[in-house]
Amino acid sequence: MKLSSTDRLFVLTGAGISAESGLATFRGSGGLWNGHRVEEVATPEAWDADPLLVWRFYSMRRRDALAVQPNAAHHALAQLEQQLGDRFYLCTQNVDDLHERAGSHRIHHMHGSLFQSRCVRCNQPFADSAFYESAPLPTCTTCGSPIRPHIVWFGEIPLDMESIYAQLDRATTLLVVGTSGSVYPAAGFVHIARQTGTRTIYIGPEEPSNAASFDDIILGTATQVLPDFFDHPSSK
Ligand code: OAD
Ligand code: ZN
Repeated sequence: MKLSSTDRLFVLTGAGISAESGLATFRGSGGLWNGHRVEEVATPEAWDADPLLVWRFYSMRRRDALAVQPNAAHHALAQLEQQLGDRFYLCTQNVDDLHERAGSHRIHHMHGSLFQSRCVRCNQPFADSAFYESAPLPTCTTCGSPIRPHIVWFGEIPLDMESIYAQLDRATTLLVVGTSGSVYPAAGFVHIARQTGTRTIYIGPEEPSNAASFDDIILGTATQVLPDFFDHPSSK
């Protein structure tokens, strides 16, 4: 595909882009962890009931993410950003850091970041790659309240939706990669984009739930399709 010198690209990624790095997708893996549905450990209710269980889950995900490398699709997006500069915006639902490790800078983690934590009271995210798998769980050095993962759980509002919608509004092309199109608000970006005439493209091995709303569906894995998808975008 060709991008002109005035095109602005908004990219939305989901778990599928990290699948070929070796990280399981949510729905593909049956959504189970140690017999628990992901919904049972990724909610404020789960945190209230059993914070150690929640921390064991995210500690395991930290281990998994640390053990894998970014793939050719992450690298292709980092390269696109270099070529397009501020005409590129990457919004990811993923909490892993593979986009950053591939070199992406203009990136927003709408569902939070695996390698950040925050005090439930002070609410200030900080870098944290520790594993918390047994008591005592970490507490805030300022106020003594519990430290939780900086993750947006089911029932919580994704981070900084205002800037996401502002970027979506300015985009001329929306490219969505590797997400099942079943979790809102991200699954609704394609509907918003269409209202303003933005071109909408999906890349993934199977059709997402919201497939009918895309102009183009490219069936294939992220690493098969993305590296050669855009031909020499103009740098101006
Ligand atoms: P899902 O597990 O729902 O969907 C993964 C998608 O990736 C599916 O549509 C697959 O077809 C696709 N896929 C699989 N392998 C792929 C590959 N090699 N290349 C490209 N695509 C591939 O994951 P998400 O849509 O990301 O939220 O899930 C959305 C949100 O639900 C997550 O951010 C998480 C989850 O619960 C929170 O944690 C708040
Ligand atoms: Zn605090």
